[in-house]
Amino acid sequence: MSWVHSNPILCLCLVILILAGIPVLLYFPTHRNLEHLPLLKPVDGFSLLDIKSKTAFVFRSKELLAKGRALFPQSPYRMITDLGEIVFLPVGLADEIRNDPRLSFGSAFGEGAAVHTYNDSVLQTIVRKELTKSIVINPMSVEATHSLSINLEWREIELKSVIVDVVARLSARVFLGKDLCRNEDWLRATKEYTINFFVAGTHLRMIPRPLRPLLHWFVPKCRELRASFNESRRIIMPAIHRRRVARAAALTAGEKIPEFDDAIDWADREAAARGVGYDPAIMQLMLAVAAIHTTTDLVTQFIIDLALNPEFVAPIRQEIVHVLRTTGMKKSALHDMKLLDSALKESQRHKPPGLASMRRRAEKPLTLSNGLALKVGDRIAIDTYRMNDPELHKEPEKWDPYRFLRISEQPEKSKFAQLVVTSPDHLAFGHGEHACPGRFFAAYEIKIILCHLLLKYEWELVPGSNIAPMVLGLTYAASPVARIKIHRRRELELDIDSL
Ligand code: HEM
Repeated sequence: MSWVHSNPILCLCLVILILAGIPVLLYFPTHRNLEHLPLLKPVDGFSLLDIKSKTAFVFRSKELLAKGRALFPQSPYRMITDLGEIVFLPVGLADEIRNDPRLSFGSAFGEGAAVHTYNDSVLQTIVRKELTKSIVINPMSVEATHSLSINLEWREIELKSVIVDVVARLSARVFLGKDLCRNEDWLRATKEYTINFFVAGTHLRMIPRPLRPLLHWFVPKCRELRASFNESRRIIMPAIHRRRVARAAALTAGEKIPEFDDAIDWADREAAARGVGYDPAIMQLMLAVAAIHTTTDLVTQFIIDLALNPEFVAPIRQEIVHVLRTTGMKKSALHDMKLLDSALKESQRHKPPGLASMRRRAEKPLTLSNGLALKVGDRIAIDTYRMNDPELHKEPEKWDPYRFLRISEQPEKSKFAQLVVTSPDHLAFGHGEHACPGRFFAAYEIKIILCHLLLKYEWELVPGSNIAPMVLGLTYAASPVARIKIHRRRELELDIDSL
């Protein structure tokens, strides 16, 4: 710094600059609160409690998010959504926020949509710890045979409503065990509950948050949700009770305590270990809510994508036949279906399940590296557009089942190519601490269903059937009304039911 000492005028200028800078720094603090961020309102002008903007967001969310991206390409902005005001962060911040304990997933999701509360840490733990460990491939494959044979007798079907039934049955086999999984009343009640859960959530969000605890009693969809909840409870509680009685009796008699290795038992054990109470019926329903529609969505979209690109049916089928002949119906075989895995990830990239991911609510104040200060209660999310960004994927509008297979051959990117791997570039399962813990199970389940479907059936779209994905707020779902014609194949390469 000798040049400063040798030049008193320069030294004086520096002092003046520093002194003048202090008030400027005080006026423009290095961190900014949300109020300084641009706010996009779906509808201009005044509307009581932003009801008009919230409603507009439900139906025009895709276009509104595209507008947000165009106006603020690399910077955060606020938008009025049906979930209230959300700050959309640039995807570059995904890694920074992914494990921050001050940002909660449960409260961002639960408060907005749930009518029934649940102990999300027990749910998260049993899915992460127990479910992935105990995945049973053969019983699920048996259930796939059963559910497809009872569902696919018709030549023309409404695709999603059939797939939801198949997924509900396979999931129930693992969550509830052999005895309960074919209980038709339970299956009907869970399917109804999961549908009502999402619709009731959307209706409820039109009501200001403080009034929801009172007004939900009068919202018709919430009444239906409560009815399907009570029905599910009525079915499942006696079964749970019977198990508890059998266990207590074995304990008293000094006999071996019966174990069932399904979600009823895992949740009982986990809650006991933590010393927390929980409602087993809510637990099962929340598992169904987390698992059934998400999984159904990917299977449905994949079936539509293959119907639109029938030239890829043969190579995917050949891979399945080859792997099953060599290895049988095992976990390792499902891992070896690399083209199927790539094609599924491509369907998820092409039509992500949500327009935004990593929804979080600040539980403690925090300042992000870009200087943005979040207060308790602020909500953030990240746009999933990156999966369709031409800077990342060549011809993103094209469904290319080989895309991730090619990526898996590039050493620096190979680890991101698998369906179950999350990254800021692929947020379909979220990312970080709260990334979907059920994705490993979902990947096995989906592949089992598709092995059966591809080996036993052929399908095509019914001409004129609406296959466009449905936009509802941040949900971007495979068409609920797409129809296909399906029939059993006559000549089979392999009898999958004998494996
Ligand atoms: C293709 C199927 C699925 C998709 C696309 C999917 C997607 C997601 C996404 C996007 C999240 C939020 C992640 C985040 O914000 O970072 C999530 C969370 C979660 N998912 Fe999945 N999911 C699927 C299947 C399943 C299944 C089968 C289960 C259960 C068996 C499950 C259980 C959960 C649970 C418990 C959470 C909450 C995690 C937490 O609280 O930290 N999901 N899922």
